[in-house]
Order: sequence, then C-alpha cells, then structure tokens
Amino acid sequence: MNVQAPIERLFADRWSTRAFDPDKRVPAELLASCLEAARWAPSCFGAEPWHYIVADRFTAQAAWQRVLDALAPKNQLWAEHAPVLIVAVADPVFSHNGNPNRWAEYDTGQATVCLTLQAESLGLACHQMGGFDAETLKSALTIPEALQLMSVTAIGYAGDIKALDTDFQPMEEAARTRRSLADTVHNGAWGTAYHPPASAGWEARYQETSVEQLPWFHAGLDADISRALDSLELGDGATALDLGCGPGTQAVALAKCGLSVTASDVSWTAIASAERLAAAEHVRVDFHVDDVLHSKLTGQFDLIIDRGVFHCFADADDQQTYVSTLHQRLKPGATLLLKCFHKQETSETGPPGRYEESDISRFFADGFKLIETQESRFAPTAQDDGPKALFCILERLIEEQQ
Ligand SMILES: Cc1cc2nc3c(=O)[nH]c(=O)nc-3n(C[C@H](O)[C@H](O)[C@H](O)COP(=O)(O)O)c2cc1C
Repeated sequence: MNVQAPIERLFADRWSTRAFDPDKRVPAELLASCLEAARWAPSCFGAEPWHYIVADRFTAQAAWQRVLDALAPKNQLWAEHAPVLIVAVADPVFSHNGNPNRWAEYDTGQATVCLTLQAESLGLACHQMGGFDAETLKSALTIPEALQLMSVTAIGYAGDIKALDTDFQPMEEAARTRRSLADTVHNGAWGTAYHPPASAGWEARYQETSVEQLPWFHAGLDADISRALDSLELGDGATALDLGCGPGTQAVALAKCGLSVTASDVSWTAIASAERLAAAEHVRVDFHVDDVLHSKLTGQFDLIIDRGVFHCFADADDQQTYVSTLHQRLKPGATLLLKCFHKQETSETGPPGRYEESDISRFFADGFKLIETQESRFAPTAQDDGPKALFCILERLIEEQQ
C-alpha cells in the first residue's frame, strides 16, 4: 500500500478479504458494536434511512442460507465461508414529510462504512458486495417493495487464503492500489489537481523503504547528542521526549541510559518499527503516533530531543506552532536538544529548513534561552561525511525570567 499522507492505521488496514474462517463465529457483542457504529453515522436531516438484516450462520442458519442463495454465483464461492451476512437496505422516503430522500443511498453507504471500520478495529474482516439478486433477496427476507437493497456485507474472522478457490488467491495477495490524490481531488475548481504537501509523505516513506535505508537512520545516539546528555547529568528516571523518533534507535538508546522515554512520530509504520526494536532490546518506551503540529501529547518533560523534525517546517505558522508546542511540553528550566540542517548544507535533497545560530535565536526568542550552538553533521553516508548540521542546546525559561 502506498499512502500519500499519514492516515489512521484502521483505514489502511481495512480491506475486502475473501478468505474467511468458516469455523470462527463472530461474538454477539462484537457484532452489536459494529451495528452500533453504523447507528451513529451522519445522515441528511438526521433521517437515518438505513436498515440492516443480520443473518448469522451459527444462530439463524435458514436466514443466512437465504442471503447466500441470492448472491451472485462468484460471490457465493467465497461468501459461503463467512459466518455472518448483513443486508443493507435504504428507505428512499423521508419519514418526517414523506418526500423522496435522494441521499438515502449515500447515507446507507456511510453507515455501512462505519460498520466495516468498527469491525476492523475489533479484528474482524468485512467484504461488501453489490453482486446479488435484489428481487430474490427482497422476497426471501420479506423486505417491503418500496425499499432499496444496497449491499450484502460478509463479516467474520480472516481465514486461510489457501482454502479459497484458486481463482481468488492472487487477488488476496495483490498489493492494494488507489488512484492518486491528484487524480481524484480538485483544488478549488474542477480540473485543477490537488497535490498534498511534501511533508505529508512521511507515512509513504516509511512504508516504501526499510528503516535502515532511510537517510536519517542512525543506529544509536549521535556523538553531539550523547555529549550534551552527559553534560546535563539528568538523574535516573528523568523524563525525555524523543520527538520524531522514526525507527526508534535514539529512543531505545535513551531508555538504556536510564531515562523514562516517551517517543512520538507522525508515521504509524515508523512507530510500529520502533516498538518492535524496543521489544527486541527489552526496554520500555511509551510510543505515540503524533504530529507535532497537531499534537495530542500531554505532560511535561525534563528533556526533549529533536533530531531532524524542526527543519522539516518551512512555513512560518508551522514553525511558530512547533515552538509553542515544545514550550508547553517542556518543564520550566528543562532542555531542548535540537539538531537541524545547517544553512551551509546545499544538497538539493533534504529538508526545506536550513539554519544558522541567528535563525534559531529568532525562532526561539520567546520563552527559550539559546545556551549553545555547534556546527555538526548528521549520520555519514557511503558517499560523504553526512549533511552539515546545526546542533543547539536550548532551555525553556522559567516564567519569572521571561
Ligand atoms: C458497494 C460495493 C459493492 C461491491 N461488490 C462486490 C462484489 O459483488 N463482489 C466482490 O468480490 N467485491 C465487491 N466489492 C468489494 C470491492 O471490489 C472492493 O471494496 C474494492 O475492490 C476495493 O478493495 P478494498 O475494499 O480491499 O480496499 C464491493 C464493494 C462495494 C463498496
């Protein structure tokens, strides 16, 4: 999968499998949660035009068989393994005034996607189908003539792909693809392609490239960061936030130094990789998927380390949001270690923000004191010594000093 901007894992992980485990029933409580999620979908005039008919093979075999029999033969080949089939029906008339509701189908679709996402969050798999004989299904389930049958959703636990008809197996293994945002989103007027900001591609980078191949990968602590940590003499258990932790190598190294580490990154693929590393290294790190520009992190830290986040923001509003977020997350008197690209770094690839000491003084003029800057380097590559960096030690001012 190739996402063009970070999204909640739930959206990326949902997909329409055909391989269901025929023996594993859907617990009644989980099925209720899926239907409840659909109940809270938005709808035009709040009309809630949807109805669902639930047919569970384990508790209502006859009804389940009626639904299965109405499916297109190709769908039956795999749906026969699904323990639950749910028929979605739209009422095309507003109940409050009897007028036609031209959004009934739209709203029933919205409710059904809520159902499928709730199912995904509960570890269940769903596959919606439009391939069924509506007239057969209507009479088999005694659905009033005026209502519209929209879909049948198979729901259950994912099963063994090899148990599927061989025609379906390649489909299960194929990469999921989508048209690009530029093809489907128009900016302001029809035909003007929308392009996501370059910064939105983090999730895509982490999904496309193994972490060791990423240019910012470094197995441990950078020498400048390590030296600064030694000089800070933080006690055991002092709290540190590793901002933009990426593959988690720095967070793990900090935890091994005895710090109580929280680590955040905008990419959940990066966080998943970092969590695996921390588990393999037997250290505890409190990982969060979080965007510093819309941060939901709470609490305050004795130390924040930013190795390569701030220089990603070229926009003045973003820079200001970053500074005020870090001010909130640092305890008064606490330290920020900030490492960014240096103004003298002229490579065409890399982040848009490149700074010298005077820039940092200006950005952090309110609420911070710039203690020290050093010319430094990011991790060396096979080709060179690594990009030129500016390493900064800042302190959050105590209120009275401001
Ligand atoms: C309204 C609707 C009708 C669909 N009908 C069928 C169907 O009859 N048979 C089938 O195998 N898949 C059906 N699908 C599943 C789509 O093929 C699937 O959602 C699409 O290929 C995208 O794949 P994904 O859901 O795995 O992301 C349907 C999906 C929707 C939303």
